Amino acid sequence: MPPSDVPPGTPPPDTVFHAGRLVPAHEATLRVDSMALRYGLSVFEGVRVYRQTAGGVRPWLPAQHLDRLRASLAAMLLPDPGIDAVPGIIAELTARNGITDDAYCRISVSAEGPGTIGDEVAAVLSVTLRPMGRKRWLSGAEGMRLGVSRWQRPPAATLPTHAKSIAQYAGSRIALAEAKAAGYDGCLLTTPEGNVAEAPTATLCTVHRGTLGTPPLTDGVLPGVTRAWVLAACRDLGIAAGPRSTDVARLHAADEVFLCGTGLEFAPVRAVDTVTVPDWERRPVMSRLAEKYFAEARGETRGTEVGWSSVD
Ligand SMILES: Cc1ncc(COP(=O)(O)O)c(C=O)c1O
Repeated sequence: MPPSDVPPGTPPPDTVFHAGRLVPAHEATLRVDSMALRYGLSVFEGVRVYRQTAGGVRPWLPAQHLDRLRASLAAMLLPDPGIDAVPGIIAELTARNGITDDAYCRISVSAEGPGTIGDEVAAVLSVTLRPMGRKRWLSGAEGMRLGVSRWQRPPAATLPTHAKSIAQYAGSRIALAEAKAAGYDGCLLTTPEGNVAEAPTATLCTVHRGTLGTPPLTDGVLPGVTRAWVLAACRDLGIAAGPRSTDVARLHAADEVFLCGTGLEFAPVRAVDTVTVPDWERRPVMSRLAEKYFAEARGETRGTEVGWSSVD
């Protein structure tokens, strides 16, 4: 049916890829006795698809996301259900769902079959692609208020911290709920050593006297694709930057604090606990990075060379 014949109020198509087929989203299901549901065995990626200034849409840093997905599969001992097909699947979903503007693609590999904890795993690939624009933090004049949580990221000896595994999010969700109940917009999880690690779904960046720092991967943070882009982009922009452990006192002394990640993109932080971040409104470093990011994401300028790695 041509678009002009679609009755008003008709929801946009939501075709997803699941178990080798394109199906309506409500048909893409996992069994209740799957090992994914029993043991939290599922790894995933979130990839942005950006509208290009010259026309069309394009996934942003897809190779880096697939590298991390491969590393997540290996770390969680899940077989590869054929993730090399993902770029073609994204192209297909773009056409089927009529995606012509910014969108968010979620790629999951889940342990689909029934079984007990020591059994062999059969893995299923699922891909969704849905419209997603800016969060309010980047577009508006607001900044986030973050609380440092009493909850910690699991240390590397409890779970492979570089894997983007759904099991990582159970604790962060409680931390976020507590922070919101206390009046914050979000929170930062800590490490057993008392350093700050990251937000539930985004990387922490701090700026002290013009130098950008982000917690090292040895502090149990997810090796973010946006984090890798930020570190590489800082090199291009002549901004000193590198991984550095940060305790709460050092965080409270930062000139600028922001979060970054695929879904959030960039979010300025206005206050941490009760401490106002001095440069939150001007946010000189985050502004330069965000400007470069969108120029590259929209295909207006050549992309920064970004290599993803599970080690710093
Ligand atoms: C726990 C966690 N840390 C950091 C990030 C940011 O990572 P990326 O930039 O790869 O989206 C995410 C987002 O997916 C996340 O879930």
